[in-house]
Amino acid sequence: MIRARVIGAGACLPSNIVTNDELAKTVDTSDEWIQGRTGIKQRHIALPGEKTSDLALGAARAALTDAGIDAGELDMIICATTTPDESFPAVATIVQSRLGMHQGAAFDVQAVCSGFVYGLSVADSLIRTGAARTILLIGAETMSRLLDWNDRTTCVLFGDGAGAVVLQAHTGVGTNADQGILNTRLFSDGRLHDMLYTDGGVSSTQSIGKLKMQGKEVFKHAVTNLSAAIQASADASNIPLSEIDWFVPHQANQRILDGTAKKLGIDPARVVSTVALHGNTSAASVPLALVTAVQDGRIKRGDLVLLEAMGGGFTWGAALLRW
Ligand code: UT7
Repeated sequence: MIRARVIGAGACLPSNIVTNDELAKTVDTSDEWIQGRTGIKQRHIALPGEKTSDLALGAARAALTDAGIDAGELDMIICATTTPDESFPAVATIVQSRLGMHQGAAFDVQAVCSGFVYGLSVADSLIRTGAARTILLIGAETMSRLLDWNDRTTCVLFGDGAGAVVLQAHTGVGTNADQGILNTRLFSDGRLHDMLYTDGGVSSTQSIGKLKMQGKEVFKHAVTNLSAAIQASADASNIPLSEIDWFVPHQANQRILDGTAKKLGIDPARVVSTVALHGNTSAASVPLALVTAVQDGRIKRGDLVLLEAMGGGFTWGAALLRW
């Protein structure tokens, strides 16, 4: 049985760090409020001229180096993003060109904060069906460009960054002992559009608009939906939650991470949290947290890892893999 195995991972963050205290100089907020309500201490914000493709390329190069392969060995690049450099073409094609990759295909996936999990599902399907052998999957965002800096209820929450993994076909025996993606579970409910959206876009206003969010409502749905997605993914492989080594959630709010873990009886020590350092980086948040836990030695080869995310749409989902 063919499995999509992660053979390398890497990240890229803008060098510019903005702390809560720095933000409080221009926004009516405080470090105490932001940390108390979200756990966020700082975020990386792209400098003027620094684009999503720059961050995506940095993460891509780091992941390829970690995998020990070069771009000539890739069959596809998939980039999950909501903040492309241009309305078209896809960020993935810009990365393709800048990596000097002239073969295969490159395209973007748009599922907002769930983008990386959606991209993982697409890449897994393409690899398992034999359509591709090696895929570079990137989550990259410059969410700072979509924020209304006069809206303190949203602008303090988000940050910029990128993370990437290289997935490669690997022959397993078809049991949960196999390395690679064991299952992915995707969900969406378009009726919840108005809770998280941008008030503009190409065909409506011919501008990008600004991010709008009903925070309290999103929070409630997040804990419910993420818990259900985690359980669905664990059940799909018949693996009890207690046997999963690491949970790598979308990093929107520490209280969502804690609430979801509590609801499912998961030990918080097994939940990777980078929300304090990165804030919510949308599609980049799961791979950034993943790379952090791999590089600091928490996630080791053979570990069972569950990734989960929720975002605008609403979209949500989870993926279970053996590292
Ligand atoms: O990635 C997609 C998923 N996104 C999320 O998961 C976000 C989910 N939502 C949340 O994380 C939380 O709802 C927030 C962090 C956005 C807000 O936390 P909350 O505990 O729901 O606060 P609230 O919206 O009920 O606001 C409480 C108070 C309000 O003041 P009053 O009406 O009680 O006087 C707000 O005006 O806090 C005020 N407030 C702020 N004060 C200082 C809102 N934002 C700020 C701020 N600084 N930045």
